[in-house]
Amino acid sequence: MTSAAAHAPLDAEALRRARAGARIGHTIRYFESIASTNDEARDLGAAGAPEGVVVIAETQTRGRGRLGRRWESPANRNLYMSVLLRPAIAPEDAAQIGLMAGLATAEGVAGWAPQARIKWPNDVLIGGRKTAGILTEMYSGADGSIAVVVGIGVNLNIAIEELPEELRDKATSLAAATGATVDRVAFADALLSRLDERYGLLCTAGFAALRQRWDELSCLTGRHVRIIAAGAPQEGTVVGMAADGTLRLRSADGSEMRVVAGDVTVLDGYGSAAGCPQ
Ligand code: BTN
Repeated sequence: MTSAAAHAPLDAEALRRARAGARIGHTIRYFESIASTNDEARDLGAAGAPEGVVVIAETQTRGRGRLGRRWESPANRNLYMSVLLRPAIAPEDAAQIGLMAGLATAEGVAGWAPQARIKWPNDVLIGGRKTAGILTEMYSGADGSIAVVVGIGVNLNIAIEELPEELRDKATSLAAATGATVDRVAFADALLSRLDERYGLLCTAGFAALRQRWDELSCLTGRHVRIIAAGAPQEGTVVGMAADGTLRLRSADGSEMRVVAGDVTVLDGYGSAAGCPQ
């Protein structure tokens, strides 16, 4: 693929053909530019759109990340995509949707870069550098039903020198990591297939059915970490994922804590060969 072809608009019709009849991606709403695909998916959900609708944009003017951060969204390089789900789960289990999406995204990325790993809760890293991030937002209906918007941003064809300077040693793209341009339709189709499969398993068998695979792909298992969440920072060694999707952390006195959400810093130095940042 020439670099002009690499930066051509995504062929939304080809993606629609590939996803025809699927639970996730039966409808693809494609935008050249939008504020945030998550906002569009939320509005579609509020208007009654069915589960599985996907919103994709070439660029976002107000792309959002976790913890109120901005998500840089340069045009025609990457994947900015949101999926509307209507899971029959309790609102307190909604965090499991984000973990499931992290697993599906890591597996999708691993189809191009087998060394891809998950950094809890749902960043996807290649060689310790962030390649994908997920923003999951939940909305409750008056009837007690919930809708979840899973927003996924994946750096696909952006060059390192096109990244903001402060991210150049922390982030990467699939093309930068593998040396080959990524076909964005093929990637989006593969990712949506993984998401469909993993979501189906979560709905029928619960998070316990995903836990082992999640632990295998996690770059934090056995690492000494500090987690900043609401309240005091927590420090300990990551044991793995519990069946309910909380992270098990063993503190210095041997007691075990369970963490639902937060931002992780790895405290013990180790090489990026393990897949996590130093
Ligand atoms: C993070 O790692 O902080 C999460 C980043 C999520 C970015 C995606 S891009 C598509 C969707 N729309 C948004 O505004 N955010 C998500």
